[in-house]
Amino acid sequence: MPTVMITGANRGLGLEFTKQYAADGWTVIATCRDPFAPGELATIEGDIQVHGLEVANHPQVDKLANDLRGTAIDVLLNNAGMFGPRGVVDESVDFAAWEEVQRVNVFAPLKIATAFAGHVAASDEKKIVCISSIMASIECTTAGSEYIYRSTKTALNMAMRVFANDPASQGATIAMFHPGWVQTDMGGTGADIDAVTSITNLRRSIAGLTSADSGKFFNYDGTSLPW
Ligand SMILES: NC(=O)c1ccc[n+]([C@@H]2O[C@H](COP(=O)([O-])OP(=O)(O)OC[C@H]3O[C@@H](n4cnc5c(N)ncnc54)[C@H](OP(=O)(O)O)[C@@H]3O)[C@@H](O)[C@H]2O)c1
Repeated sequence: MPTVMITGANRGLGLEFTKQYAADGWTVIATCRDPFAPGELATIEGDIQVHGLEVANHPQVDKLANDLRGTAIDVLLNNAGMFGPRGVVDESVDFAAWEEVQRVNVFAPLKIATAFAGHVAASDEKKIVCISSIMASIECTTAGSEYIYRSTKTALNMAMRVFANDPASQGATIAMFHPGWVQTDMGGTGADIDAVTSITNLRRSIAGLTSADSGKFFNYDGTSLPW
């Protein structure tokens, strides 16, 4: 069976990805910040290896890549992300927080993609998927708020689009997905869809990716989204 590696697997969308891939018999490399307190992750049945990973900690990323040397990863899922302070405007923009969110939402997925490109290249499926957001879309933006989250996800899309064209990606198919507005800690209880619906659709869309899709931005149902 194939192998998937998921960051931020301890709650929200990452936890649901883990449940569904494990139930389908995949080997799941599930990462979370504290592997000694994985919460619900510890209760999921299946072929699941839990590893500690603070995604913004580059030496930790390199160490995990080294520890997993020789392991083929069919689907690398850059899922971990943070929203940061909400609704910032004008002089109240928190630039220090913006830097922190960039480290998690932009630098970390690219660092992880580069560190694990060889593991992905050694697999059958060779896919790197980044969970982005419709809030990254410049064309779709009409709101005058959420500078931090929006801009970091836009930067994520560009960074991964460039990586898709970079030989360093070693031929992987790279795709960015909006998961829908989902009922998680980040999405809140008033969100449009539940995690089961989001991840069921996302997994179907990821399974259908071909090399012709590399560098593109999709909704969770597999339809294209405007940059
Ligand atoms: N929910 C939505 O409506 C929605 C919409 C669009 C995009 N997204 C994106 O979907 C992804 C998952 O979101 P979610 O809704 O599941 O959010 P969530 O419920 O807030 O969960 C976020 C996950 O990311 C992990 N994480 C955050 N910073 C991390 C770090 N520095 N190192 C390691 N792990 C870290 C968290 O770990 P801890 O438990 O340790 O904090 C947690 O597992 C994110 O990239 C988010 O931007 C979500």
